[in-house]
Amino acid sequence: METDRLLNAREFEKQAGDRIGPEEKPAFHLSPRCGWLNDPNGFSFYNGKYHLFYQYYPYDSRWNSMHWGHAVSEDLLHWEYLPCALAPDQEYDKGGVFSGSALTLPDGRHLLIYTGLDRELTGMPGAEDMDAVPNQIQCVALGDGTEYEKYEGNPVLTARDLPTGGDPVDFRDPRIWRTEEGDYRMLCANRNEDGTGQLLLYKSEDGLSWQFVKVFYKNHGRYGLMWECPDFFLLDGRGVLLVSPMDMLPEGFEFHNGNGNLCLIGSFDRQTETFTPESAQAVDSGIDFYASQTMLAPDGRRIMVAWMQNPDCSTYRGALPWYGQMTIPRELEIRDGRLWQRPVRELESLRSGHISVRGITFSGECALAGVSGRRIDLEVTIRVTDPLNPYHKFILRFARNDRYYTQLSFRPRENVLKLDRKFSGTRRAVINQRRCLVRRPMTELKLRVILDRYSVEVFINDGEQVMTALLYTDQDAEGIMFYADGEACIDVDKYDLIG
Ligand code: FRU
Repeated sequence: METDRLLNAREFEKQAGDRIGPEEKPAFHLSPRCGWLNDPNGFSFYNGKYHLFYQYYPYDSRWNSMHWGHAVSEDLLHWEYLPCALAPDQEYDKGGVFSGSALTLPDGRHLLIYTGLDRELTGMPGAEDMDAVPNQIQCVALGDGTEYEKYEGNPVLTARDLPTGGDPVDFRDPRIWRTEEGDYRMLCANRNEDGTGQLLLYKSEDGLSWQFVKVFYKNHGRYGLMWECPDFFLLDGRGVLLVSPMDMLPEGFEFHNGNGNLCLIGSFDRQTETFTPESAQAVDSGIDFYASQTMLAPDGRRIMVAWMQNPDCSTYRGALPWYGQMTIPRELEIRDGRLWQRPVRELESLRSGHISVRGITFSGECALAGVSGRRIDLEVTIRVTDPLNPYHKFILRFARNDRYYTQLSFRPRENVLKLDRKFSGTRRAVINQRRCLVRRPMTELKLRVILDRYSVEVFINDGEQVMTALLYTDQDAEGIMFYADGEACIDVDKYDLIG
């Protein structure tokens, strides 16, 4: 097999990556060194640094034969690229190295586990010639944080390790963790005989040799069809399952993205390793969020990143030498039985140029001196001044100039917050709007809006709900304006985010 594929990728990315200036990329969101990025992989803390790998095709800004790109950071915001970590260079993974996860072995080695495609990608599931469709197998690579060697015992899991009815063509995204007893568990996504997703649990003493334990959870078609990128952990005493279901049906205001995101929270019986979900929610209610992965930071925080992209709907403009971004890493917690998120606290160290305005009561338009910018952290609290006669609608417009804007609008009577990027500069009939039913019926709404060059992430009421979207608006559109139909009162704190 061509072992040069890794060297080629490394040569290519060095040259192509160096041609892309830092100002052409997001300032504090990870994007690929060059070419294409999708899912976060191997998110872990190793030898004093956060490591974040990513699904990567260095040669073009579109999805193709997958590699693992690699970056490290000390604060989860400034990322330094390391050489491409994995390429599809073995007989058993020549069709691509798909998503997976990482951990540190007791002997200090960094273990990566990924899905290999055992044939070149000429056919995809559902293709007429199913012989051309690769099987998906699980493989290991071991390394020192920069160089990784594929394990000589690969693949570590194949079709033989599937339970009856498990489809070898959809068997991917291994998520591993170490138990308190010091052995290992893995969850893998798989399609079962009813055509929808199930999660398989495997165990291992050493991270290399794996045995099937049981079907951990079956979707039964309740949330979408096939499931991708599972993640399971305990948080604040609860079991939390994060997963990316494909082909979801919308329910109320949730799950409108087709290929979406889901969080199940419930009890976990350690003896029997049984997870019993008690509630379900969308992780993100915006447009661009998929394939999340978490890690446990050394200080005990559970931190999540996701691919900041709707897999069905690309806003790609065709001109960028790179495409794809991660969300800002987010700290997770369980409150009132639900998943809450907020940007990692490290973000506060990027803040400068604080502008604070309190108690502005207005109706109609309102602009505030100094409140503008495209790399900002903006906190806005909106209050109803007369509960018997609340304002009808509040609007926050940003990334704005004479031609463009993106807006958040809130109607207190309906408690609906809408994100709309129709006028963000897109020239395609892609999804431009999402609405979110704000859970807390309040006469006060708190928004924290994180803007980077090409994205917005809106944390609602301290992170109880989140809406994420990409926007490729020209960078000189940096105006911000408030508008109220009726009388509203706002407090505003704005910070520039300077890398
Ligand atoms: C999710 C996904 C994974 C797969 C990877 C391939 O976006 O489809 O299931 O491992 O992307 O790039």
